[in-house]
Amino acid sequence: MRIGHVVGNWKLNGSLSGNETLLGSVKAAVPKAAGCRFGVCVPYPYLAQVKDLLAGSGVEWGGQDCSRFDKGAYTGEVSGAMLAEFGCTYAIVGHSERRTIFGDTDGVVAEKFAAARRAKLTAILCVGETLEERERGVTEEVLARQLDAVLENQGAAALDGALLAYEPVWAIGTGRTATVAQAQAAHAFLRGRVAKKDARVAEALPILYGGSVKAANAAELFAMPDVDGGLIGGASLVAEEFAAICQAAIARKG
Ligand code: 13P
Repeated sequence: MRIGHVVGNWKLNGSLSGNETLLGSVKAAVPKAAGCRFGVCVPYPYLAQVKDLLAGSGVEWGGQDCSRFDKGAYTGEVSGAMLAEFGCTYAIVGHSERRTIFGDTDGVVAEKFAAARRAKLTAILCVGETLEERERGVTEEVLARQLDAVLENQGAAALDGALLAYEPVWAIGTGRTATVAQAQAAHAFLRGRVAKKDARVAEALPILYGGSVKAANAAELFAMPDVDGGLIGGASLVAEEFAAICQAAIARKG
């Protein structure tokens, strides 16, 4: 059985006092569980606070992005080594909001992925099609292009120890979750594409689903053979919801 992961993505949300309340509840409700890892990816200024709040708990933490550069004259950037220094174990790269709003190309995302790995972070490579692309029937083409930016240039070995996240853009923050069949089909396609390069890496690779995951639908999604956990936006801001999603991942392993 692959390791299950449930990772919260707070996006542009949080405050010192709110984080303390939220993480106090999350930490109390999310147990350490063999075969599962749980984490929250928070805005950079809160990393020091979150490190203090979560140290020693069953919940890890990470960044929502990672500079493709390690050091130098790159105003506004935060490097993988800086994230690691604040105890981060995860870094998200290629989130659709970075791609569409901030112009991260497949090439830039691949460089960020490599940088996160250089810093020994668990890189979470996000891929996903827009509604227009799904309706045009080019979902697999889009997923292949986004995955190949890493797979072709860095090799399947680069995915060893990393995570993939399938996040259909039309399901993010919309309340419209992909059906379990749609999620499974996309995950199986992604795993199959990695397997063509390296069957062992593909088999071990956790692929997370993201897009309107909540306590009410987590168990059915995680029951799919190629869905190994979730990347959680809105529901990660509600302690009971997030904890229940983590429990669904634990139950899947049982
Ligand atoms: P929602 O769970 O709010 O749909 O967001 C998903 C997401 O983008 C996680 O990275």
